[in-house]
Amino acid sequence: MAQDDKLKKVIGHAKEYGFVFPSSEIYDGLSAAYDYGQLGVELKNNIKNYWWTAMVKMHENIVGLDASIFMHPTTWKASGHVDAFNDPLIDNKDSKKRYRADVLIEEHVGKIEAKIMKDVTKAKKRFGDAFDEKQFRETNPNVLRRQTQIDDINARFKTAMDNEDLAGVKQLIEDLEIADPETGSRNWTDVRQFNLMFKTELGAVSGDSGVIYLRPETAQGIFVNFLNVQKTGRMKIPFGIAQIGKAFRNEIIARQFIFRMREFEQMEMQFFIKPGTQGEWYDYWKNQRIKWHQKLGIGEDFYRFHDHIKLAHYADAACDIEFNFPMGFKELEGIHSRTDFDLKSHEEHSGKKLQYFDPEENKNYVPYVIETSIGLDRMFLAVLSSSFNEEKLEDGNERTVLNIPPALAPVKAAVLPLVKKDGLPEKAREILRDLQFDFNCQYDEKDAIGRRYRRQDAIGTPYCITVDHDTLEDNMVTIRERDGMTQDRVAIADVHKIIAERVSLRKLLGE
Ligand code: GAP
Repeated sequence: MAQDDKLKKVIGHAKEYGFVFPSSEIYDGLSAAYDYGQLGVELKNNIKNYWWTAMVKMHENIVGLDASIFMHPTTWKASGHVDAFNDPLIDNKDSKKRYRADVLIEEHVGKIEAKIMKDVTKAKKRFGDAFDEKQFRETNPNVLRRQTQIDDINARFKTAMDNEDLAGVKQLIEDLEIADPETGSRNWTDVRQFNLMFKTELGAVSGDSGVIYLRPETAQGIFVNFLNVQKTGRMKIPFGIAQIGKAFRNEIIARQFIFRMREFEQMEMQFFIKPGTQGEWYDYWKNQRIKWHQKLGIGEDFYRFHDHIKLAHYADAACDIEFNFPMGFKELEGIHSRTDFDLKSHEEHSGKKLQYFDPEENKNYVPYVIETSIGLDRMFLAVLSSSFNEEKLEDGNERTVLNIPPALAPVKAAVLPLVKKDGLPEKAREILRDLQFDFNCQYDEKDAIGRRYRRQDAIGTPYCITVDHDTLEDNMVTIRERDGMTQDRVAIADVHKIIAERVSLRKLLGE
């Protein structure tokens, strides 16, 4: 399936089955704002729970926080967001379309990378098992030439951005002959910086003194509470503070469904460490986070690391975990070595000490920080898009199925009486009552059983429990599994235990 088609199908499916709706749809929607429907909210909660369990519950030295969205405006001066949280934007004079200059350049680089990958794939096919990709990349003249092109572009872009040389960025776009992706026009305006923070006013105060911001990241709520948590929780370094919450950015171009929105949710963790140990902790968290993703079983090929070339104002090392979305590989999560930039800056701006007394070293210091930051909505799109499949079955029929990892599935089990008479509905409801306290379940007695299975496949329900006439005699039911469509006859007394085992986070995270 072509990638664009897949995204369109996922968006259509998400709407049809109550996962994601356009915001305020009755007024024709609001650009890049979405509402999570009855199944979407379940999937979202399950992703949050998977993250919170792995990060907070399973780490003795990580605790949670829920800070407010509004913060004192000086917070954003100290964090650098007032001065430096900008995107370089460029307009096309003919099409009047606006683009992020850095994204245009990245996409150009992506096209060169795709050519390299094409050569690699071809060579892999030709040489089979004997193929050594590293050696090929280091010696093949075409690949070397293209890699040099990429390195030159990246170096020029980095230098221009580091020197705030926006004319240099425009020159690079012109030299690379980058055209408006929609119209092909190369008639560009100058590049300008655009601050991404949403401003509003506090209470009745108007004018500059009343300006406050909607937080553009949740992280600052953690930094300003660093000492509160450390002291009241008697935390010892190294320790982490984790938070899930909304963030807001006035994105220039917000598109690709829930991938880039102006209101979104982040799951962030700041890990406070001894200065000088950031290298090892950065590697540690890279490793932990990629494992967290891979444990879902979506497939290792879906993930790759991407090191940042242009580091954010606070970082001494940073990378993304990229996911193979229907639009190709894109950032899903960031891992940043944030040094002591934020805490030091908050010390300077607030006049309050934000230091840790290290009993082992017998001295005070401002801790360094490693941050892991993942967008909940992007994780939602990653799970939804990778699990969306249209299958041709052996009997010639087709089905649309969401192969969502069972632990994340919005509905864990559907209880289905074979017919809606003869006491089967009553028996089915008995089973439902036993399950619904622990699992989100559905009851469905309408239509033929095959159609009911298809409905559950389409929303990703991993298990269907069918009650038939024999059930009334032998107290056994059929459990039908979504992916393999296998059916097992089991005792009603065992159903709860079976479902619990198969959908448990313990199984996922413990392994
Ligand atoms: N505290 C660090 C920070 O905010 P970031 O790389 O700007 O770093 C972290 O954002 C994550 O938040 C990204 O990896 C992405 O998953 C998510 N994210 C960022 N902007 C987003 C947007 N406009 N819409 C949806 N998710 C977004």
